[in-house]
Amino acid sequence: MKNVTFIGTGYVGLVSGTGISDFGHKVTCYDISEKKISSLKKGNIPIYEPGLEELIKKNTAAGRLFFSSDPEIAIKDADVIFIAVGTPMGEDGKADFKYVESAAKTIGEYLDSYTVICTKSTVPIGSGKKIINIINKSKKNDATFDYISNPEFLREGSALNDFLWPDRVVIGGSSKKSFDIMKEIYGPLFKNKKPIVYTTVTTAEMIKYASNAFLALKISYMNEVANLCESLGADIKQVAKVMGQDGRISSKFLHPGPGYGGSCFPKDTEAFASLGRKHGNKIRTIEAAIKTNSEQKLRMVKKIKNLIGGDFENKTIAILGLSFKPNTDDVRESASIEMIKNIKEKGGLIKAFDPVANDSMKIIFPDISYKNSWEEACKDTDAAVIMTEWNEFRGISLSHLKSLMKRPVLLDTRNILDVEKLKKNNFLFDNVGHNLLYEN
Ligand code: UDX
Repeated sequence: MKNVTFIGTGYVGLVSGTGISDFGHKVTCYDISEKKISSLKKGNIPIYEPGLEELIKKNTAAGRLFFSSDPEIAIKDADVIFIAVGTPMGEDGKADFKYVESAAKTIGEYLDSYTVICTKSTVPIGSGKKIINIINKSKKNDATFDYISNPEFLREGSALNDFLWPDRVVIGGSSKKSFDIMKEIYGPLFKNKKPIVYTTVTTAEMIKYASNAFLALKISYMNEVANLCESLGADIKQVAKVMGQDGRISSKFLHPGPGYGGSCFPKDTEAFASLGRKHGNKIRTIEAAIKTNSEQKLRMVKKIKNLIGGDFENKTIAILGLSFKPNTDDVRESASIEMIKNIKEKGGLIKAFDPVANDSMKIIFPDISYKNSWEEACKDTDAAVIMTEWNEFRGISLSHLKSLMKRPVLLDTRNILDVEKLKKNNFLFDNVGHNLLYEN
């Protein structure tokens, strides 16, 4: 059993810290915000993530998971300290390093014996050396440490599952002693035969960016293929399905949609592209994927505008789904933001509904109408747009939906509704890549 500390109780810190406590280690989740810590101590979980609340309860009750805003308690006795603070998008797309910098400084100030210091935050490639320097500068004694890069590959909405059943764990470092400690931290996964990859810090940092950027690229590629399918009369669903049967391509991340969002892809692709520019090796494919993604978001706005006759003025539109993907209340960079912004600017009215993200979107758009069900949101509207593929929207009764609306007009940006049923119910509708714009 090791003493582990997480600095930062955001999404990554909370999920990973809880996961590691579940492996049997003693974990302290530290945050500079006393308010956040006192709320966590009371059992209030700041994010919606399936299964997280239960696992936090289980491990706090078992005396393995603690919360603290005291840096001395958090750092002094730790065998391993994970840095899991945010790296938001900064100038010219570069990742903003200030929270990592301040975490490294605090670690140095309280370090008093050998510790493994491990970065989980997605940091620019080459950051490892910088972090080591900051710690060395702020150290007040001769305590030694080893540095590890251990990037996360957690998807919001299924993060606990991703943490407990990863495809691989990447450990970037240079000393055998620290590799052995990390092996003990992730011991249960090792027993489950999950691959643990040992490599250098720089390679680990690169693996993270290259993986996320590739997935974003895959989505933008499929969105462009879908758009061409619309012009040529091909069915993207079948195209994607058959492409995915090729093991070299894989069936994952081939779903076209309104453009990717979230806290990772938009930020990480920008940071990766910015890194390429800085080092004189432009990553043109990623630059293009970013552009395609912005255009895809606007393409969805054009689609609904066309469906309602070219003008949003005094039209009421139901927006179903606000989060950037299902099973999360996170609306960061969600395609629904672009949609709402454009409809509002052009004089349209909005009735929005998301099963969990209404409150998050209220912070961005306080003055639109939020409803408690899809039925309420669609009542007396001129059109409805599905922006997030929540399961409850897959089961929408089209005859019921039609009876609620002024006119049966629908844009399905996630391709979750049955086209034949839409036709049968005389909907004027559109989706992404099916070339199926039917008239009433
Ligand atoms: C992502 C990575 O998957 C994860 O490994 C990393 O650590 C953090 O970033 P996340 O942002 O939680 O995770 O969500 P993800 O499931 O990857 O989806 C990102 C966006 O892409 C969403 O907006 C989603 O709707 C979109 N997407 C995903 C598609 O449009 N099509 C797809 O086929 C897959």
